[in-house]
Amino acid sequence: MQQVTGQVVQNRDLGHGLWHLIVEAPEIAAAARPGQFAMLRVGPRLEPLLRRPISFYRIVKYNGWVEFIYKLVGKGTEILTGKVPGDSIDLVGPLGQGWTLLPETKRIGVLGRGIGIAPQISLAEAARKRGIEVHAFFSAREPELIVGLELLEELGCKMYLHSDRGAYSGKVQVVTEYLEELLAREKLDQLYTCGSRRLGRFLLDCWLERGIKGQISLEERMACGLGACVGCVTEIVTDQATGKREYQRVCKEGPVFWVEEVGMLYDYC
Ligand SMILES: Cc1cc2nc3c(=O)[nH]c(=O)nc-3n(C[C@H](O)[C@H](O)[C@H](O)COP(=O)(O)OP(=O)(O)OC[C@H]3O[C@@H](n4cnc5c(N)ncnc54)[C@H](O)[C@@H]3O)c2cc1C
Ligand code: FES
Repeated sequence: MQQVTGQVVQNRDLGHGLWHLIVEAPEIAAAARPGQFAMLRVGPRLEPLLRRPISFYRIVKYNGWVEFIYKLVGKGTEILTGKVPGDSIDLVGPLGQGWTLLPETKRIGVLGRGIGIAPQISLAEAARKRGIEVHAFFSAREPELIVGLELLEELGCKMYLHSDRGAYSGKVQVVTEYLEELLAREKLDQLYTCGSRRLGRFLLDCWLERGIKGQISLEERMACGLGACVGCVTEIVTDQATGKREYQRVCKEGPVFWVEEVGMLYDYC
């Protein structure tokens, strides 16, 4: 983990409140792994004081770039939209524990809704580089909110898409119907998701009913992102045999956890 001053290569408005930020930060790109994140200082002033956590969307090691897709939400991300190519940006990273691709894994499913898709693109990329078959089950309110499509198609990922309105709407009620159909015929070794509680619940069911190993990236409000303030703790099952629970820091021990560690968060979805 390092604190560096990166240089903005691109900060593009993708429409519908989404932005694509590319930062040249070779030290961070060299160390970063899919599923990890950086804490970004959004502006030069004291206010807002706290950095904002954003996951790596892509890690382009040969260019020394880290890429982020962020959603315009409030004050911090609004200031971030003002960055232009050539601007400096202060970032700390890579932070947290990323996704795990087990050595024996041959076929995976990534499930995402809206901005929860972004942290899974670098995972899909890494998996394809290892020759792993990737099935991407993505949904959003509008089709334009599904990011990374062209890249995943180029990489040869199999895409299953659903939007509440517009293109891809109407074929299924929810995107997990596609996954259920696939699992009725074929096997997947690992499943991944981020953000959506409904998809988290779905992964828990896949683990309990079919034994498919799953990982979930959690989101908590983060003040330091470094494990120091203990502001981001959540209850984790640390011993499966006894069901023992302990508080762990989402920024340090997470944000990615095994589904059986965080399954009880989804008990009442
Ligand atoms: C590990 C992690 C990875 C993330 N990755 C992405 C990503 O790839 N793309 C993306 O668009 N968003 C991501 N988020 C959410 C993003 O951090 C918040 O949307 C952003 O901090 C909002 O800042 P704001 O000042 O615009 O909003 P405000 O609501 O004004 O923020 C006020 C405070 O709340 C915190 N906060 C607000 N919403 C969230 C949230 N959902 N999660 C955590 N803290 C929040 C802010 O950091 C800030 O300290 C991630 C969050 C975490 C914890
Ligand atoms: S945000 Fe400070 S410990 Fe996690």
